[in-house]
Amino acid sequence: MPSKRRDQLFAESLGAVGKFIFDDRVAEVFPDMISRSVPGYQSIVQHCGDLAERFVCADSNCYDLGCSLGATSLAIAKTVTASNTRIIAIDNAPAMLSRCRAAIEHFKPAVPITLIEGDICDAAIENASMVVLNFTLQFVDPNKRSALLANIYRGLNPGGCLVISEKIRIQPAPLDALMVDLHHQFKRAQGYSDLEISQKREAIEDVLIPETREQHIDRLQSVGFESATIWFQCYNFCSLVAIKG
Ligand SMILES: C[S@@+](CC[C@H](N)C(=O)[O-])C[C@H]1O[C@@H](n2cnc3c(N)ncnc32)[C@H](O)[C@@H]1O
Repeated sequence: MPSKRRDQLFAESLGAVGKFIFDDRVAEVFPDMISRSVPGYQSIVQHCGDLAERFVCADSNCYDLGCSLGATSLAIAKTVTASNTRIIAIDNAPAMLSRCRAAIEHFKPAVPITLIEGDICDAAIENASMVVLNFTLQFVDPNKRSALLANIYRGLNPGGCLVISEKIRIQPAPLDALMVDLHHQFKRAQGYSDLEISQKREAIEDVLIPETREQHIDRLQSVGFESATIWFQCYNFCSLVAIKG
């Protein structure tokens, strides 16, 4: 059963705040952390299931890159009805993957989910009808992002879709400041203290590197996607869908 433990990792004053990593302590509280930190997270995961129902077709693969505890894979597995499909879920954090494995064993999805421990930048993407990067690209070295998306584009079948959900930087700067402020208001409403918000922010700086929506759309077009749009946005969090023509 996935953990319901409350995220209090940044509740006490830490003195020196270390860099954020997806270790055992984070994995233990991750469902609570992400749903109280990312406005719209549950909706995005659930709507990935809706998209999968349309896009995942028979005899193809669906990839969940940076799968964490498997929330997106499990949402997709609930809606896919096409035959002979497989979800391939990849993550490079052993602590996340071991809990993902336990969640899959617990929920016993009808569609098989293959777990791979590894770097998504080295992943073989083949015969894909759908690829999802839910809040993962933002953790990939910016210099590797174009090559990763080009690899995904190559591995997608014509008509296949890519979903990218990210924290984004807004332009111009005053609007970015407003969105960051609204995001912090959301976190306070979720029960996080100002200390928790500022320590988490410090830990994640330089680890999560957000880009603008324009950078995302330009990159998608530069690797070959003919059409891409934002289908969900709340403050400085959004989700894009791109289709291979
Ligand atoms: C914010 S979490 C993703 C949440 C998840 N997609 C969901 O919907 O619940 C980011 C995940 O990406 C993984 N990750 C980051 N960089 C990665 C990389 N280069 N290769 C594989 N996994 C990576 C992390 O270990 C972490 O589990």
